[in-house]
Amino acid sequence: MSESRPSSDALIDFIASRQSFKALDLNEPAPDDGELERLMTAAVTAPDHGALRPWRFLTIRGAARERLADVFETAQRARDPQSCEEDVLALKQKPLRSPLIVAVAAEITENHPKVPPEEQVIAAACAAQNFMLAAHAAGWGAILLTGWTAHDPTVRHALGFQEKDRLIGWIYMGTPPTGRRVKKRPEPTKFLTEWTAPPS
Ligand SMILES: Cc1cc2nc3c(=O)[nH]c(=O)nc-3n(C[C@H](O)[C@H](O)[C@H](O)COP(=O)(O)O)c2cc1C
Repeated sequence: MSESRPSSDALIDFIASRQSFKALDLNEPAPDDGELERLMTAAVTAPDHGALRPWRFLTIRGAARERLADVFETAQRARDPQSCEEDVLALKQKPLRSPLIVAVAAEITENHPKVPPEEQVIAAACAAQNFMLAAHAAGWGAILLTGWTAHDPTVRHALGFQEKDRLIGWIYMGTPPTGRRVKKRPEPTKFLTEWTAPPS
């Protein structure tokens, strides 16, 4: 290991200090284009079988969030023409909760001889996590959300994706509130075991 690097303990503690914020608690300002480009330098180092670069990051801010709300309404009415107005209004408030939404998707290469679609989704999800860790390092707050809107074909198409593609989720972003609580995390060793042989 010849590269100079920050203390591993400090880095691991920092990664472990990432936590999500409620979308409604994320305020202006949100990262600008230059800051987002910086976060993307971390995103594009995600593990990537076949170097397919399947990850796509779409930024949705300002009035575009209202256009996304309109897309949600169209999708909701297509799913259920009897949708009640109250539910539609509540749905349309969702994209307005934070100043910035980053839609993360996997643009799927079909019939790849070595890399099935699931692995492409995994690569895009790893890119999303790198992006959120970089956002945390830069002091931004974020939360990854899905819900049915992330899996709906009407929404997918409105964002410019095809049937084969997959949305990883919506990263809501902005300035986090101050005075956050330290989050209780699971006991790490419970998830680490050594495998030595098949059970008899
Ligand atoms: C793929 C994915 C989708 C998620 N979708 C939702 C969601 O729709 N609603 C929600 O409340 N949390 C969702 N979560 C969980 C939050 O992103 C977050 O991890 C959770 O609130 C725990 O907070 P933490 O990140 O501080 O541990 C999702 C997580 C993942 C990985």
